[in-house]
Amino acid sequence: MAPELKTVFCICFFLALTGKCRPKYYGSDTPIRQYVRNNSMREPPVLEKLRLKTLEDPSYIMLATDEQTQLMANLIKLIKAKKAIEIGMYTGYNALSMALALSEDGRVVACEINENYTNIGKPFFEEAGVDQKIDIRLQPALKTLDDLLAAGEAETYDFVFIDADKKNYVNYYEKSMQLVRKGGIIAVDNVLWGGRVIAPAEDDLSSQTIDRLNKKLHKDNRIDLSMLTVGDGLTLAFKR
Ligand SMILES: C[S@@+](CC[C@H](N)C(=O)[O-])C[C@H]1O[C@@H](n2cnc3c(N)ncnc32)[C@H](O)[C@@H]1O
Ligand SMILES: *[C@@H]1O[C@H](CO)[C@@H](O)[C@H](O)[C@H]1NC(C)=O
Ligand SMILES: *[C@@H]1O[C@H](CO)[C@@H](O)[C@H](O)[C@H]1NC(C)=O
Repeated sequence: MAPELKTVFCICFFLALTGKCRPKYYGSDTPIRQYVRNNSMREPPVLEKLRLKTLEDPSYIMLATDEQTQLMANLIKLIKAKKAIEIGMYTGYNALSMALALSEDGRVVACEINENYTNIGKPFFEEAGVDQKIDIRLQPALKTLDDLLAAGEAETYDFVFIDADKKNYVNYYEKSMQLVRKGGIIAVDNVLWGGRVIAPAEDDLSSQTIDRLNKKLHKDNRIDLSMLTVGDGLTLAFKR
C-alpha cells in the first residue's frame, strides 16, 4: 500500500472508531435506498432536527427508518386516526411524526423505560407545538397496555406501532389487538431482524419470538396482512 493511502486508511479507521463515520440514518445505504429517499422523503424540519440530534446518541441504530415513519404518518392520515400507541419510543422520532399526523385532538401514548431517551425528544415535541399530544408513560410497556385496558380503553385505538424489546413481541401484539378498533392498524417493526428470522439460532430468543409472531400473523383471521421489506421489515396488520 502506498504511504499516503496508508495515512488515509488510518484516519478513516480512527474516525470510524470514534463514531465520526457513522451513517446519517439507520439502515443500509444502497443506491436504491438513496434513490427512494432522495425522491420521496418530505421530512418536516423539526423531525429532521430530532433525527440529527438522535444520531449523536450511541444507540442511534434503534431509530426507526424515516421511510417507515413517513409511511406510518400517511396511514394515520388516511384512516383519520385520533388515538395511537407507540411501544418503544426511544427519542420519539416516530412518536413526534405520529403526533404531527394525528388529528388536532389526537393523542399518542408513548411507552418507554429509559428517561434519558425521552428527555432527548421532549424539547422537539415542544418546538413542534405537540407536546400536549404525546403522553409519555415511563414504565414497562406491558404495564402501560394493561393500564389502558383497565381504564376501559379496549377497541378505542386507531394505530399501534410495536418497536420495543423483541422477546415480548407476541405479548405486545395480543394486547394491541385488544386495544385497537376494527379498521385500525398495528404496525410491527424489525420483522426481518437483519435476516436472522429465516433460521433463528437456538439461543436467539429475539429472532425466535419475531419468527413466531410472523408465522402467527400469517394465519391470523382477525386481520388483513402485509409484510414490507422497508427498513428492517415492517408488518402492517389491518384489524377486520
Ligand atoms: C428500537 S427502539 C424504538 C425506536 C423508536 N420507535 C423510534 O421511532 O425511533 C426500542 C425502545 O424500546 C425501549 N424498551 C425496551 N424495553 C421496553 C419495555 N419493556 N417497555 C417500554 N420500552 C421498552 C428501549 O429503551 C428503546 O428505547
Ligand atoms: C441522493 O442524494 C444525495 C445528496 O444529494 C446524492 O449525493 C446521491 O448521489 C443521491 N443518490 C441517488 C441514487 O440518487
Ligand atoms: C441515564 O444517564 C445517567 C447519566 O449519564 C446515567 O447515570 C443513568 O444510568 C442513565 N439511565 C439509564 C436508565 O440508562
